[in-house]
Amino acid sequence: PFLNSLLSQDCETPQLNPVMEPLSWMLGTWLSDPPGDGTFPTMKPFQYLEEVHISHVGQPMLNFSFNAFHPDTRKPMHRECGFIRLKPDTNKVAFISAQNTGLVEVEEGEVNGQELSIASHSIARISFAKKPHVEQITRKFRLNSDGKLEQTVSMATTTQPMTQHLHITYKKV
Ligand code: HEM
Repeated sequence: PFLNSLLSQDCETPQLNPVMEPLSWMLGTWLSDPPGDGTFPTMKPFQYLEEVHISHVGQPMLNFSFNAFHPDTRKPMHRECGFIRLKPDTNKVAFISAQNTGLVEVEEGEVNGQELSIASHSIARISFAKKPHVEQITRKFRLNSDGKLEQTVSMATTTQPMTQHLHITYKKV
C-alpha cells in the first residue's frame, strides 16, 4: 500500500512495461501444488512448499521472491529474491538473484513462448558459504496448458556434475 501511494496518486496498478510483455505469463502469486521435489546425488530426496511472488512496478523488469518452507513444520528454508530483465526488442533474459544461503547469481538465457531457459553467467558467495560450492546453475520455467507454472533447477557443484536439484509446479493464488 505505501508503495502504491508513492507510485501513483490514486492507488492504481502501473501498466506492465511493454518490454516485459514476453514474460507476462510469470506474473502473479504462486503456491506449490503439489509440494516440490528436491533431489541430488549427495542427499536423501526431500519435499518442500514454496510461495512465489512475481510482480512489477511499471519498470522494464519483473521483481520476484521465492520462499521455501518445510512441508511438515512449515519452517522457512531457502529464500531468494531479485529481478528479471529482458533486453529490449529481443528474447534475451537476465535473471538476478540474491539467496539467503549467501549466494548471489546472474543467469542468462531466452524466453520462447511460455518457456524461459536460463543458465548461470556469474556466481558470487560469502566467504563462509557452506560447502560444497555450486559452480553452475540452470533453470527452466514454463507455463503449462493447465495454467500451472513449473520450475526445474539443476546444478553442478565442486563434487557433482550437472544434476537436477529441484522440480516444482505452482498454482496461481
Ligand atoms: C543442498 C544449492 C535451492 C533445499 C544444497 C547444496 C547446494 C544447494 C550447493 C549442497 C549439495 C551437496 O551437499 O552436495 C542450491 C541452489 C538453489 C537451491 C543454487 C537455488 C538456485 C533450494 C531450495 C530448497 C533447497 C528452493 C528448498 C527447500 C536444499 C536442501 C539441501 C540442499 C534440503 C540439503 C541440506 C543442506 O545442505 O542444507 N543446495 N539450492 N535448495 N538444498 Fe539447495
